[in-house]
Amino acid sequence: MAKVTLIKGDGIGPEISEAVVKIIEKSGAKIEWDIQTAGLDVIEKEGVPLPKRVIDSIKVNKVALKAPITTPIGKGFRSVNVQLRKELDLYANLRPCKNIPTIETKFDNVDIVVVRENTEDLYAGVEEKIDENTAHSIKIITRDASTRIAKYAFDYAIKYNRKEVCVVTKANICKLSDGLFLECAREISKEYPQIKFREILVDNCCMQLVQNPSQFDVLLLPNLYGDIVSDLTAGLIGGLGVAKSANIGKDCAVFEAVHGSAPDIKGQNKANPMALLLSGVEMLKHLGQTIPAQKIENALYKTLNNGIKTADIGGNASCTEFTEAIINNIV
Ligand code: NAI
Repeated sequence: MAKVTLIKGDGIGPEISEAVVKIIEKSGAKIEWDIQTAGLDVIEKEGVPLPKRVIDSIKVNKVALKAPITTPIGKGFRSVNVQLRKELDLYANLRPCKNIPTIETKFDNVDIVVVRENTEDLYAGVEEKIDENTAHSIKIITRDASTRIAKYAFDYAIKYNRKEVCVVTKANICKLSDGLFLECAREISKEYPQIKFREILVDNCCMQLVQNPSQFDVLLLPNLYGDIVSDLTAGLIGGLGVAKSANIGKDCAVFEAVHGSAPDIKGQNKANPMALLLSGVEMLKHLGQTIPAQKIENALYKTLNNGIKTADIGGNASCTEFTEAIINNIV
């Protein structure tokens, strides 16, 4: 039995995490959930959106499944997600984007893995207001963090039999910061002669991704570009409702959907639980529970094949109908 911290989040978080827990339980996975509330709903009671007990729980259990949490724009608290990644030193954000059978998209051969540095860059949150009309935000890039994430990307490429790592920066403009990230990737690439190494500027990368995405394999990016480009790659395979991710550190791993708390569809039984479910499948594989992981994937693909889909991917099933169909297809 593996003990896993479950953060139900806010917005659509509670709906999709309830769906995912039901499916994982039906799969026969040996999971004991340690349920921890966080986000908007706990601020009133506990004063902060990410109480220390949540971090402590993940530190003890080492693994968490996390539903999305809202970050108020422009004011209020620092993002819970950024804080969690920073406090647990979850330095690698892994966002694999591969076509999913039966989900029609513009391109057929998309199989891209985004490896995003998860702890620094503009997400370090070092901002200051100089005067009423001027604000500064500091972009932090260090050799240690850049080398560590480059190494992670190349090790991933070896482990999963990928052919190329492409580093994505704006080093022509941010010569010192992105220049350092690029320099570290170049250095590390020399230790992996069996993996092709490529460099591209982020603007060109975006254009190439929407024209010819199958040319890309593993993408290695600093935090901000990684965040933006991985939403783009999610769009290539069917949108945010289907894009999974994992935040990996030396000691802990937190699995979550790429998408946010989707307040526009909260409480309407419309949310697609697939992105969180596929993140949960990756979590089961991480825990060595490959049989239930496979059972869930089979049941999901059978459900999609039967034409049962939520609205965001072209169907008309509600979140609960889609969930029940997956549960009924687990054998
Ligand atoms: P969002 O990802 O929540 O939503 C963008 C669009 O995609 C919306 O139209 C939404 O309805 C749709 N969508 C997202 N997930 C879906 C799903 N599972 N099924 C069907 N449709 C789905 O992005 P937005 O609106 O920019 O952010 C909302 C909040 O979420 C913000 O406070 C943001 O900071 C937070 N956020 C949290 C993340 C996390 O917890 N890891 C990640 C990204 C954003």
